[in-house]
Amino acid sequence: MRVVVTGGAGFIASHVCEALLARGDHVVAFDNLNNLYRRARKESNLAQVRAVAPERFRFVEGNLNDVESLARCFDDAPVDAVVHAAARAGVRPSLDDPAGYVEVNVGGTARLLRVMQDHGCTRLVFASSSSVYGASTGVAFREDMPADRPVSPYAATKRAAEMLIHAAHASTGLDAVCLRFFTVYGPRQRPGMAFHKFATQLTRGEAVTMYGDGSSSRDYTYVADVAHYVLAAVDQARGFQILNVGGDTPTQLRDAIDLLARALGVPVRVEQLPDQVGDVPHTCADMTRTIAALGPPPSTSIEDGLARFAAWFAEHGVH
Ligand SMILES: NC(=O)c1ccc[n+]([C@@H]2O[C@H](COP(=O)([O-])OP(=O)(O)OC[C@H]3O[C@@H](n4cnc5c(N)ncnc54)[C@H](O)[C@@H]3O)[C@@H](O)[C@H]2O)c1
Repeated sequence: MRVVVTGGAGFIASHVCEALLARGDHVVAFDNLNNLYRRARKESNLAQVRAVAPERFRFVEGNLNDVESLARCFDDAPVDAVVHAAARAGVRPSLDDPAGYVEVNVGGTARLLRVMQDHGCTRLVFASSSSVYGASTGVAFREDMPADRPVSPYAATKRAAEMLIHAAHASTGLDAVCLRFFTVYGPRQRPGMAFHKFATQLTRGEAVTMYGDGSSSRDYTYVADVAHYVLAAVDQARGFQILNVGGDTPTQLRDAIDLLARALGVPVRVEQLPDQVGDVPHTCADMTRTIAALGPPPSTSIEDGLARFAAWFAEHGVH
């Protein structure tokens, strides 16, 4: 199979590229290597991906907002599927630049869909987000719950992209799976994400800056489990589906900080700050549909996942 992976130099999609190459697929990674975090990190991710199977890997440096660079991904051989993970990611920065998020996450998705159509590519897996559920609390999020009250521009752009993909399915017969990822962690995690920031503070002996009283909870999902579901979705995409991808065990923020400190082997000091605008208090995935469509629940416990993240951070983290 030949798969184009947008955002392929980033955290999650670099793991997806590796998993595709490891099972024998051809991969074209597309990324603009933007400087929202260090370009050197993305180049290092790409080097590790390429090393899996250089003869089956190609990198196209380009921007989702530039149709010609997107078209280059499709110019050597027919592409069987696209995994679309390139995006402006992150909730908090979206509050300062909603228009920039719309341009890339909505406009870029629309351009990609058009280029796919022009090249006869009819299968798509989209990296959506649990943030589309808004501030719903108390129950596990199910894919048929309303997702029309986002609390950040980021969430709004992810939901808008899902709807554009549905429109492409309805009008052109595109087979598509929108996977709603719940807080993903693991090696190569973006430096702006909570565990990466906490690990930096903990290993410097600084207090961990915790927003809220620590009782908020997240359904943390290990990146290899996410990659596993993405590959299953690539193989099984039929019609239009929205499926949750969560870790199956929500963890309170304060407990997660303690587990991370234990994995890093350092003591914890916490500085409590007010809740952040745009953050949702709790996330928890109902995985019933995903398990029925794509196979068994994720296999990595938060303890094992954090141990692997800590081992990676010890070698590659920012000190
Ligand atoms: N990390 C999470 O917990 C999480 C949760 C839900 C959804 N997601 C989604 O998963 C995807 C990957 O997230 P990540 O955490 O790996 O982030 P990331 O920033 O590491 O990866 C995104 C990649 O997209 C690239 N990119 C951004 N704008 C681009 C553009 N205009 N043209 C080409 N490339 C561009 C970036 O250079 C980056 O390498 C994103 O779509 C994100 O919204 C992530």
